[in-house]
Amino acid sequence: MKIAVIGTGYVGLVTAAGLAEFGHTVIGTDKDTAKIDLISRGSSPIYEPELDDLLKKNLAGGNLSFTSDVDAAIREAGVIFVCVGTPQDENGRADMSQIEGVARSIARNLNGYKVVVEKSTVPVKTSEWIKRVIGLYRRGDTPFDVASNPEFLREGSAVPDFLEPDRLIVGVESDRARDILVRIYEKFRDRVLVTSIDAAELIKHASNSFLALKISYINMIADLCERTDADVEQVALGMGLDPRIGRQFLKAGLGYGGSCFPKDVRALTKIGEDLGVDCGLLRETDKVNQARPGLFLDKVKKALWILKGKRIAVLGLAFKPETDDIREASSIRIVRELEREGARLRLYDPKAAGNMKEVFPPSAAVSYCKDPYEAAEEANALLVVTEWEEFRSLDLARLRELMANPIIVDGRNMFDPAAVRRLGFEYYSVGRK
Ligand code: UDX
Repeated sequence: MKIAVIGTGYVGLVTAAGLAEFGHTVIGTDKDTAKIDLISRGSSPIYEPELDDLLKKNLAGGNLSFTSDVDAAIREAGVIFVCVGTPQDENGRADMSQIEGVARSIARNLNGYKVVVEKSTVPVKTSEWIKRVIGLYRRGDTPFDVASNPEFLREGSAVPDFLEPDRLIVGVESDRARDILVRIYEKFRDRVLVTSIDAAELIKHASNSFLALKISYINMIADLCERTDADVEQVALGMGLDPRIGRQFLKAGLGYGGSCFPKDVRALTKIGEDLGVDCGLLRETDKVNQARPGLFLDKVKKALWILKGKRIAVLGLAFKPETDDIREASSIRIVRELEREGARLRLYDPKAAGNMKEVFPPSAAVSYCKDPYEAAEEANALLVVTEWEEFRSLDLARLRELMANPIIVDGRNMFDPAAVRRLGFEYYSVGRK
């Protein structure tokens, strides 16, 4: 059965290339013709490790192709993965207009039985709306099914996450749709969990919000540690050794960013409101997270007092390592606040500087550096904002030489406090004395 993937953003592109890698015949489609041209030549418009190779391999293999003719792609396919964006609207809800648009396109091109699979992150009950729209706009009564198959890809490791999934959630309401989706993921039959559609839709929001909650929880604990002699890294380790808690996602720091956690926490909060369930826990999760950059800036001000005219090196702009993505990155608030205070900023990131220049174009106050050492030249302080691995092996003694004042404010606890202080640095980090 031919598979169409509608939308070639993060989720769509990795899904199309990944399903082709599993041996299926896949046609990826998007209205954006320039993007389709680029992708059809085997290069991905986003920075994602291993994605270009996966695209090139399967385009060459002949079972992966791309077109900007969405209608034709729908007509050719028996299974349609919907991977268009559901960005946050002004009220914090997920904007479903692209999903509705796709449902109408499918209705117009329903030339036989099809399974419509939600892959985008959508609020619970979205499948009801998709069914209604297709039912309203289709000609005749050609049968179709809607299913939910949420993705759990992480930016920076999306390809291995897709090719080696922890679990595959298949939300269906017919045996026919179940059998088709289980066959698509035949290779991982033992990792497939078949649920109702509502459950599958909720699993995605619930999982992301729980991980975000875990991060805000350890950040709250980090604040407690700073008022005592406890070290949050030790506390997190002590907690995480309990398999009921688990060590993952207990890294205190500048909080979570990206295109998923912030919007999913807010979307689920709104879903609760609409369904009459108070999701106060998620409101607090968001509140704790929003406060991180401000607490970090307090440390910078404590170290430098007046920021006006100070030369500050900022290492890391992406919302996390291994991506060029700065969406909801804490670096944006930090740079904006420091610029507003009149500091002169020397920014460095191995991948995300290009995206950051669109928000903060190079100016007298903001300059982009080719490496951390250039950024550190004559700096009154050095800030660590994203935990890129390369920062861990920085030559701190050389940095000390280059900087005007040996002050490091580390928002990601990358260094060992004692080692840094032995080199003569003042060192401030998160949840540690
Ligand atoms: C996340 C989910 O992990 C993924 O399953 C889902 O499909 C999409 O959303 P992603 O946004 O790529 O993926 O990032 P992730 O690696 O989960 O990190 C999210 C944020 O949390 C980053 O800003 C990261 O810096 C932060 N984080 C993560 C912490 O602050 N502490 C941690 O312990 C882990």
